[in-house]
Amino acid sequence: MGPGAGRRPTMLLGPWLVAAVVAAGAGAGCPVLCTCRGQAVDCSGQRLFSVPAELPLDTGNLSLAHNRIASIPLGYLACYAQLRVLDLRNNSLATLPARLFLGARRLTHLDLSYNNFSLVTADMFLEASELLRLDLSHNPWLCTVHPKAFRGLAQLRELDLSYGGLSALSLDALEGLTGLVTLRIGGNPWVCGCAMEPFLKWLKSRIQLCTSDSQLAKCQAPPEVKEVPLFSLTEESFKACHLTLTLDDYLFIAFVGFVVSIASVATNFLLGITANCCHRWSKASEDEEV
Ligand SMILES: *[C@@H]1O[C@H](CO)[C@@H](O)[C@H](O)[C@H]1NC(C)=O
Ligand SMILES: *[C@@H]1O[C@H](CO)[C@@H](O)[C@H](O)[C@H]1NC(C)=O
Ligand SMILES: *[C@@H]1O[C@H](CO)[C@@H](O)[C@H](O)[C@H]1NC(C)=O
Repeated sequence: MGPGAGRRPTMLLGPWLVAAVVAAGAGAGCPVLCTCRGQAVDCSGQRLFSVPAELPLDTGNLSLAHNRIASIPLGYLACYAQLRVLDLRNNSLATLPARLFLGARRLTHLDLSYNNFSLVTADMFLEASELLRLDLSHNPWLCTVHPKAFRGLAQLRELDLSYGGLSALSLDALEGLTGLVTLRIGGNPWVCGCAMEPFLKWLKSRIQLCTSDSQLAKCQAPPEVKEVPLFSLTEESFKACHLTLTLDDYLFIAFVGFVVSIASVATNFLLGITANCCHRWSKASEDEEV
């Protein structure tokens, strides 16, 4: 069954109803428990466990904030081409259905904060190519962002990943975000080991462009830098990460090892000869005495 297949009673009820619906100028009236004003549909704080089945076709702003919604049906947004703002803050979402934004390509603001995401999957927002602001903050279990999570979001200006469970973030996930101006990453348990260096370098190179929550981003580990602000780490902090050996170093070590082993063989040989001579000499003197 395709998206919206169940929402077409007009097909069964005859052309007169189609005419009535067209005259009303929308696919559906205002959903129960929601208030509609112009193109804005507000269903916030209604203790909803699921999304309203149908919305007016010209819905531009949709708020489903402060409910208990745990899932969104496949193809839910397919008919709402006017949708620009979608507020899903403070629900129980852990995933989004694949290609949710396929029919809602004009979406510019998406708020998924205060939910239960643990993972941002590859291409999660691929079709939402007009997105300007994406809020994924306050998802306390969010510890994995796929390197291709934000693919397609070249227009994105604001990304909020604060107050999650992130200990690391793949640079690949951010590099495609050419329009990014604001990035929030505070309140995460960052691990500031060697793997953090490229991410930090990237952040610092963009910091003039990015207004970031720099004071709030702190290292959680390793113990030497616990509670140290991420942005106070310098190249010096990562010096130990660069203590790698060159080919010359390896050749030198091999050469020294070779010399030492030759020397020890020669020493053993000399010791052997000496011991042998002493033995013979003492035997000879013993014979003389007898
Ligand atoms: C739609 O949402 C945007 C952003 O949240 C807001 O600025 C705008 O006033 C809203 N429009 C209506 C009609 O509620
Ligand atoms: C989340 O929604 C509940 C009502 O469902 C409300 O009591 C609570 O204050 C909201 N929390 C946030 C952080 O907005
Ligand atoms: C949130 O997700 C965790 C696992 O990641 C689960 O244990 C918990 O029950 C979920 N909470 C809600 C409110 O769905």
